[in-house]
Amino acid sequence: MYYKAGKHKEAGLAYSPFKALVAPRPIGWISSQSRDGIANLAPYSFFNAISELPPMVMFVSAPDEREGKSTPTYHSAKDSLANIMETGEFGVNIVGKKQIEGMITSAEGLSADRDEFEAAKLLKKDASDIHVPLVAGAPAQLECALHDIITLPGTETRAGCKMVLGRVLSIHIDDDVIRDGKVDVSIFQPVARLGYKDYATIEDVFAIAQGVKG
Ligand SMILES: Cc1cc2nc3c(=O)[nH]c(=O)nc-3n(C[C@H](O)[C@H](O)[C@H](O)COP(=O)(O)O)c2cc1C
Repeated sequence: MYYKAGKHKEAGLAYSPFKALVAPRPIGWISSQSRDGIANLAPYSFFNAISELPPMVMFVSAPDEREGKSTPTYHSAKDSLANIMETGEFGVNIVGKKQIEGMITSAEGLSADRDEFEAAKLLKKDASDIHVPLVAGAPAQLECALHDIITLPGTETRAGCKMVLGRVLSIHIDDDVIRDGKVDVSIFQPVARLGYKDYATIEDVFAIAQGVKG
């Protein structure tokens, strides 16, 4: 099969397979807070670590379509992006198998005046270096400062997505997921996004002892 990007229907595929092909993708569970102190939480699977020194992450926010279809020229910001543009800070909370239900609940498009931790019945943990709450009980949390926001190209019908780049200022790790001085992902089983409605957890871990760094 071969098709031009965006033309999967003409190729006989009802749904775009793009996200099923570039998979698994880690989930950045982004916490943020408005200038007025309303906490927000939402999962983003166009998310990844992009540099080790200094540690940096990125996530991509599509235009908010809660108030109707977006236009090619107007990007309506989702609440996470709006908060981060206001405050310059965000948290990345790592999603393990135990956090799946809370993560899914926090994806609901609540209005910006609702505290999404309360709505998802999740407890807050204080951050040390930013003014944004973190998800208590998550296997790890990264405290981040906004580095830059890049506007990606749009389409004929929709404004471009916004790529948020963040510098990791500090890292919290649940001591229970550390074994022999290393994070053991088999203890919390990170959740990844696949295509369609599919998810995966990391359970099968193997090491390859080569002199290759990376
Ligand atoms: C697993 C998962 C991954 C998601 N990834 C993204 C993403 O990468 N970009 C995006 O714009 N929305 C993504 N969403 C949808 C947002 O989480 C959703 O629009 C949410 O309401 C945004 O919340 P906010 O307005 O509080 O930021 C994802 C949803 C789920 C459940």
